[in-house]
Amino acid sequence: MATQTGQPDSARIAIERHSQWLVTAFVAVGMLFMLLPGTFLGVWNLIGISQQHAPGNLSPAWLQAHGHAQMFGWIGSFILGIGFYSLTKMQSTFTFPVRSGWTALPLWTLGITLRWISGVTGVYWRTLLPLSGLLELVAFAVFYRAIRRHRPASNGRSRETWTLLVAGGTAAFFSALLVNFVAMIDLALHGNTPALPHVLDQQLITLAVWGVLVPTIWGFNARWLPIFGGFKKPNGVPLLVAYGFSVAGVVAGLLRGWAFSAALLLIAALLAVDSLHVWEPAVQPAKLQDVHRSFPLFLRIPYLWLAVSCILNALAVVYDHAGGIWGASRHAITVGFIAGMVFVIGQRVLPPFCGMRILWSSRLMFWSLLFLHLGCALRVLSEPLAYEGYWSFAWKLLPCSAIIELAAVTVFAGNILVTLLQPPAHQRLVKIQSIPGHAR
Ligand code: HEM
Repeated sequence: MATQTGQPDSARIAIERHSQWLVTAFVAVGMLFMLLPGTFLGVWNLIGISQQHAPGNLSPAWLQAHGHAQMFGWIGSFILGIGFYSLTKMQSTFTFPVRSGWTALPLWTLGITLRWISGVTGVYWRTLLPLSGLLELVAFAVFYRAIRRHRPASNGRSRETWTLLVAGGTAAFFSALLVNFVAMIDLALHGNTPALPHVLDQQLITLAVWGVLVPTIWGFNARWLPIFGGFKKPNGVPLLVAYGFSVAGVVAGLLRGWAFSAALLLIAALLAVDSLHVWEPAVQPAKLQDVHRSFPLFLRIPYLWLAVSCILNALAVVYDHAGGIWGASRHAITVGFIAGMVFVIGQRVLPPFCGMRILWSSRLMFWSLLFLHLGCALRVLSEPLAYEGYWSFAWKLLPCSAIIELAAVTVFAGNILVTLLQPPAHQRLVKIQSIPGHAR
């Protein structure tokens, strides 16, 4: 039997299986980074800061180890896994880059792990930090080469907006890893501790968050929100203009024009909200099968956090003295927008991607999202009040926010991990149908 593309079914099935195993492996690795090096260290850091009533006393290397594990270890692993997986959906060739996928995964995992270990323990950091940067860069180069080779021919058609955004995010991913590698070499040669200097660290975060993660999310949102949420189709050109503003904002940040950068990023965010129609009524019913019915609401809330983050970022330029307003802005975007979107879309798309499974519990999906946004709200409210010295009681609220977010992350991870341990949907159906007395 041959498919419409002329491929025999067996070849097509083998490709699909390989891609499912690979995306599952990347998701599992991402989840581990999210839980232990990412969230547990973040919670630990926040409890330490709250006990001392001072953000400045904690090791910058620990904070950076946490940030790197979350942005690259968790979200980065998800992006690489989904990137490999999506090749099977877009390409029309017989081959799947199996070897590239299974080469990139261990290199990537080792790179992120070494970065975390050397940052937290300080062991052999002058060797391990550059090595970690190199491994991450090589892993990404392997990934990039594979997607370049296997991407579908454009057939002369202009590329859709969402693919342009994802391509922009991919290019920035490579740039961020390159800058990171050079920075790690410089740190190893000239630094006194395994932590980047503050300004360079902030610039790298701006590049990673606004250059890589935000456009990638906008790109996938442009593709998936109309399908899953029933949203109006995005306005392509204004969305690209929004992207242009965000790139300009990143460049301004890299040139230390923080006020200009904040203004550009705010405009970018508002334009993106408008182009993606996230706050407008849906034009089609949302696809709620196997997810919680609150799904459309949780697709919209992250964009509220995106706007809040940009407003706080602008306020931070003028009013921040102790990192509280800036920290709240960063948390609004990383947890409220990025993690919020990954939680809601991830629980929708990862079960089918990882072997045609069905999400284990839609109720847990709801609780993970509710806890995440509640924890984020408490943190974003209390961080400026505590750090900037406006209200000392806020120091007591900060650890509560960390525990609520930890609960959110644990519920999310548990739900996905149990989902992955379940048999695929068709096997579950066969099992149910084989129960005596089962009526269809
Ligand atoms: C889920 C619970 C989380 C907790 C409790 C947490 C906690 C913290 C704390 C205490 C800091 C130190 C700076 C500050 O005081 O604001 C921090 C920094 C940071 N966090 Fe988180 N965080 C969490 C989630 C995340 C997520 C999901 C991401 C990214 C996707 C992220 C990315 C970052 C980054 C980039 C930094 C800056 C690190 C640096 O200074 O280099 N965090 N976080």
